[in-house]
Amino acid sequence: MNFFVEYLKHPRIIGAVLPSGKNLARQMVAPIHFDTCRCIVEYGPGTGVFTAELARRKKESTRLLVIEQNASFCAELRKKFENVPNVFILHGDAGRVEDYLKRYGIDHADYIVSGLPFASLPKEVAKDILNATRRAMGRSGSFITFQYTLLKKRLFTEYFRIAHTSYEVKNFPPAYVLTMQNDGKKRSGRERGWIYPDCG
Ligand SMILES: C[S@@+](CC[C@H](N)C(=O)[O-])C[C@H]1O[C@@H](n2cnc3c(N)ncnc32)[C@H](O)[C@@H]1O
Repeated sequence: MNFFVEYLKHPRIIGAVLPSGKNLARQMVAPIHFDTCRCIVEYGPGTGVFTAELARRKKESTRLLVIEQNASFCAELRKKFENVPNVFILHGDAGRVEDYLKRYGIDHADYIVSGLPFASLPKEVAKDILNATRRAMGRSGSFITFQYTLLKKRLFTEYFRIAHTSYEVKNFPPAYVLTMQNDGKKRSGRERGWIYPDCG
């Protein structure tokens, strides 16, 4: 109920009427090597469906920085995860991910898991977040996001190499999971061989 109420208040920022399901949460964390990773960042956890899977699977010493812009969701997340070691709920903006890493003395995130609604976020906000994400994950990290359509795939390929795409049918609505890596290149539409005037 909380989720739907928050959607009615901020439809473009929340971007979905319902939280994701557990099957999608499992797909989102499938690319993560939990035994070796030291830091995971989550963007836009909402009521914490992905956070719960990350908190359940991560090693105790792995730090999980959870960045959520909505104060009401943050209060709910703090209650849910207060007893899980090294889970930090940060009320803030995913575009400031580097500031949060610095605050915890972390050089880069091994994985950035995103629940952000890139399809409905304002274009400049989405671009600022993707630029900050590239820097925050360095050259060895991975960026994992879900999308209900592949309309934004071209935007992502400006910043990342898409290493893997899967599709979770047992979610409402069904969703793609994209796993991306920073290959050190930043491409324009022309360099990628297509022109897309309305992308982003
Ligand atoms: C589509 S909901 C996803 C919630 C959850 N991950 C799920 O799949 O059920 C998007 C979430 O992103 C949050 N959000 C939007 N823009 C944000 C930003 N710039 N920084 C942090 N969180 C943001 C919203 O408040 C909302 O909780």
